[in-house]
Amino acid sequence: MLPRQHATENQYGHDITDRIPAAGSVPGIAALPPWHDAVWRRAAPYLAVRDNDAHTIHSYGLAHALTELHPDADPEVVLPAILLHDTGWSQVPEGDVLTAIAPGGNRPDLVLLHEREGARIARGILDELGHDPDRTSEIVDIVDGHDTRVEALSLNDALVKDADKLWRLTPHGIGTVMNWFGLDRDSALRLISGRVHDHLFTESARTMARALGAVGWVDSSPQRVALG
Ligand SMILES: [Fe+2]
Ligand SMILES: [Fe+2]
Repeated sequence: MLPRQHATENQYGHDITDRIPAAGSVPGIAALPPWHDAVWRRAAPYLAVRDNDAHTIHSYGLAHALTELHPDADPEVVLPAILLHDTGWSQVPEGDVLTAIAPGGNRPDLVLLHEREGARIARGILDELGHDPDRTSEIVDIVDGHDTRVEALSLNDALVKDADKLWRLTPHGIGTVMNWFGLDRDSALRLISGRVHDHLFTESARTMARALGAVGWVDSSPQRVALG
C-alpha cells in the first residue's frame, strides 16, 4: 500500500488536499486549548493505568461534542472535570482496579476510593493552575461521586457522566473491554450496551449511543468480519 502522506500517490492519482476544510469550520474537531492541555499533562501521570489515559481523552472529545449541543452547560466545568475524573484510580492498587470495574466485582469501597482520591487530585491540579474557585468546587463535587451518584447534580454533571459512559461504545472502549475480560467483540458490545443505553441523562447522548452501538454491531457482524 502506498503511504497516505503522498497526496498524489493514491488510487485516484490526483492531489485533493486543497479541498479539505479547515479544522475550525467543521463540527467535532477541536484542539485542546492550552489551559486544557495543561490540565491534561498534569492528569496524565495519574491516568497511566488500565488505559485510563486513552479513555479520558476519548471521553474529552465526546464531552466537547456534548457541550456544543448544550449551550447552557459550562465547558470550563465539564471539560476539566472529564480530564480529571478518573485520576483517583492511580491511588488504587493496580491489581485491584479490574476487580472494582468488573461486573459482579463487588468492591464498592474501591470505586468510592477512586472517586474521593480523584476529587483530591483534581483540586490540587486546578488550584495549582489557578482555575476559577467556584468552577473548581463544582468540578471537585462532580468528580467525587461520578460513578456512584445515581442522580446528576446539574447539566454539567450529566454531561460528564454521559461522556464517561459513551466511551465504552467507541471502538477503543469495546476493544478495551474485550482485553479486560477476554471477550469477543459481540459479547463485549452486548455487555457494554446493557450498561450504557438506559443509564444516560441526555437525549443527545442517547442518540450518540445509538450511532456508536450501530457501528459496534456492524464491526462484530459476520458479514463485516468476513470482509476482513
Ligand atoms: Fe471512574
Ligand atoms: Fe471514566
